[in-house]
Amino acid sequence: MTRLLVVGGTGLLGRALLRETATRGIPDVVATHHSTPPGRDVRSVRVDLTDDESIAAAVAEASPDLVINAAYAKNDTMDAVTGAGPARLAAHLSPATHLVQLSTDIVFDGDQRRPYVETDPVSPVNDYGRAKAHAEAAVATARPDATIVRTSLLYGGDPPTVQEALVRQGVRFFTDEVRCPLRVDVLARAVLDLGEKRAEGRWHVAGAEALDRLSFARLLAPHCGVDPATLDGGPVPADSAPRPRRVELDSSAAERELGYAFPGARRLLGTS
Ligand SMILES: NC(=O)c1ccc[n+]([C@@H]2O[C@H](COP(=O)([O-])OP(=O)(O)OC[C@H]3O[C@@H](n4cnc5c(N)ncnc54)[C@H](OP(=O)(O)O)[C@@H]3O)[C@@H](O)[C@H]2O)c1
Repeated sequence: MTRLLVVGGTGLLGRALLRETATRGIPDVVATHHSTPPGRDVRSVRVDLTDDESIAAAVAEASPDLVINAAYAKNDTMDAVTGAGPARLAAHLSPATHLVQLSTDIVFDGDQRRPYVETDPVSPVNDYGRAKAHAEAAVATARPDATIVRTSLLYGGDPPTVQEALVRQGVRFFTDEVRCPLRVDVLARAVLDLGEKRAEGRWHVAGAEALDRLSFARLLAPHCGVDPATLDGGPVPADSAPRPRRVELDSSAAERELGYAFPGARRLLGTS
C-alpha cells in the first residue's frame, strides 16, 4: 500500500488528489500546506519549497513511497518555488521514493501548427513557462525515473477555480488563445495512476478538445449561474505581454498507458 506525500495539498489539484486518495481508501497520506492550514481531517505539515528544513521534516513525517508535487507560486517567489523548488524537493527523497512533478502546457510557445507531443522541445515565452521548463529539466536530471505531468487549464474544483471566478466576473475572454481544459478530478486520477505505475518521463494529460478562452468560458457559464450570452470576447491585444496562442497537448501516450481517455470540456460541461 502506498505511503503518499502530496506537496501543495491545499491547492486546487492537491485537494482533488486528497479526495481521490480517500475514494481509493489509501490510508497513509500526508499533505503539505504553505499559507493556509487545511481542515482538521487532513494530516498536514507546513512546507516552504525554498526551505530545506521544512522539506526534510515533511519527508520524515510521511516516509513516502510516492511524492506528488502539486505546489507552485506565481508571485515574486516564482523562480525559487516553481523553478528551483522541485529539484530542492527531489534532493530530499530516498532513491526508492518515486516523484511526480506537475508541469504546464505553457512550456510551449503555442506557434506550432500541430498538437504538442512529449518529445517536442520546450519553447517558453513567459516567466511562468520558463520557471516550469527549468523545473522539468532539473527534476529529470536529479531523478531520471520521475514522472513529469504537463497539463492545461483546470476547472471543476472545490472551491471553484480561477476560470470559474473569471466567468462570474465577466471579464473579456480571448478568442485567439487556445488550450485543452481538463476537469481537475480527471487529472487527479491520472496523476495518481501514473505515479503508482512509476511511469517514467514526461506525460501530457489534458482535455481532448482544444477550445479558445471565450468558448470555454461559455461552456462554464451555466455551471457558474451566468448566462453564456452575456460573456464577451476578442483577440489578445497587440501590446499584451507574450502569451502562447494555440497550445494543444496530444495526450494519447498517457491515455494508452492508463487505458482510459481524458474527456474534453464540451463533453463534460455540455454544448451551450
Ligand atoms: N490551475 C491550472 O489551471 C493549471 C494549469 C496548468 C498546470 N498547472 C499546474 O498544476 C499544479 C497544481 O496547480 P494548482 O492550480 O492546483 O495550484 P494552486 O491551487 O495555486 O495551489 C498551489 C499550492 O502550492 C502551495 N504553495 C505555494 N507557495 C508555496 C511554497 N513556497 N512552498 C510550498 N508550497 C507552496 C500552496 O499552499 P497554500 O495554499 O497553503 O499557500 C498550494 O497548496 C502546478 O504545478 C501548476 O503549475 C495548473
